[in-house]
Amino acid sequence: MKFKMRALCAGALGCLLFGSVAAHATNIEVLHWWTSGGEAKAAAQLKSIMESKGYTWKDFAVAGGGGENAMTVLKTRVVSGDPPAAAQIKGPSIQEWGAEGVLADLSPVANVEKWDRMLPGVVADVMKYDGHYVAVPVNVHRVNWMWINPAVFKAAGADVPHTWDEFPEAAKKIRAAGYIPLAHGGQPWQDFTVFESVVLGVGGADFYRQAMVKLDQKALHSDTMRHAFEVFGSLRADIDPDAPNRDWNQATAMVINGKAAMQLMGDWAKGEFTQAGKMPGKDYECVAAPGSQNAFTFNIDSLVMFQQNDANVTKGQHALASAVLSPAFQKVFNLAKGSIPVRTDMDLSDFDACARKSARDFQAAAKAGTLVPSIAHQMAVPAATAGAMQDVVTQFFNAPGASVDNALDRLAQAARIQ
Ligand code: BGC
Repeated sequence: MKFKMRALCAGALGCLLFGSVAAHATNIEVLHWWTSGGEAKAAAQLKSIMESKGYTWKDFAVAGGGGENAMTVLKTRVVSGDPPAAAQIKGPSIQEWGAEGVLADLSPVANVEKWDRMLPGVVADVMKYDGHYVAVPVNVHRVNWMWINPAVFKAAGADVPHTWDEFPEAAKKIRAAGYIPLAHGGQPWQDFTVFESVVLGVGGADFYRQAMVKLDQKALHSDTMRHAFEVFGSLRADIDPDAPNRDWNQATAMVINGKAAMQLMGDWAKGEFTQAGKMPGKDYECVAAPGSQNAFTFNIDSLVMFQQNDANVTKGQHALASAVLSPAFQKVFNLAKGSIPVRTDMDLSDFDACARKSARDFQAAAKAGTLVPSIAHQMAVPAATAGAMQDVVTQFFNAPGASVDNALDRLAQAARIQ
């Protein structure tokens, strides 16, 4: 992490003031970026479960899909010695924060509740720093989804594309019928979300892992990566001119309202369909992003807890951690959020067909070795590396006619940044 923490309370007076305020507080402040319709509904479940336990929920929502804004604000708060009780921090960043020595140890709850038995091993490992739980996982999102408006496909006489070779033909028919083929928001994290699905669909899970997780220079310079860039670049023709800066949920609304045919987005998009009262299989379809049917790009939301000076807040953090993994919360939260429970022992009969497919595909991909972490959603590589790679991809996407060879070189260079 490229910044230095200051002591949590600077000087005796600062500590005293901090302590005296905290003594009255059972406020639990939680930083997150769940501000769209579906996300806010899911976050409200967390608020209500904490209130039912006698705590006051202090909402620290920082708008901005993908969480970049939230992470910037969080760093400022921690550096100024005033960390929230909990924050949504994911993947390798948990280790980076752990190394700063500011995270709280959740072992007292994790040991009693036997989290090691409740969570898949790959998930548990990410939540631990130096062998101790410092984060509690909330859910499992699948990123390599494509959301479909079947009425638009029907009106255009197009077939849903299941490979990138089939995509241009479908897009052409959709365009000719007066619809937008691909709903997209031109923000770097959304560009990268689409790009990583293209890489997975073009190259398969082994290639994705080699190029995007192991950051192998040969794979990054390969013909497969060149082809992925070509396919990705061709999508510029399938989005509308108003895409720049559009929020992801506005793009989802275009599919919901029948302006656009498809969106390549993680299943937080499903939260928007649910919120709009839409039914999968009828009003919309969830299919794997072209060419990625047998793979699963995962994105796990988690709440990391920061050390606090007030024992009441520490107690509240333990209550929060325990609530997050309770079956009741796992159900209501994930129904609204579009994700699936992170607990492996949950009954999914109240979940929709997309969630059940996600759970099945997760298991199958884990068995087949095709479960891969999302870079766009901070699961795969250090934040600095992901940020540099994201810049290259966005610049390429926003410069029609940009050289693919140059993009390959620049991506490979960015992958070296730590
Ligand atoms: C988070 C999701 C969130 C999405 C859009 C992802 O990185 O994991 O929880 O819904 O960004 O903001």
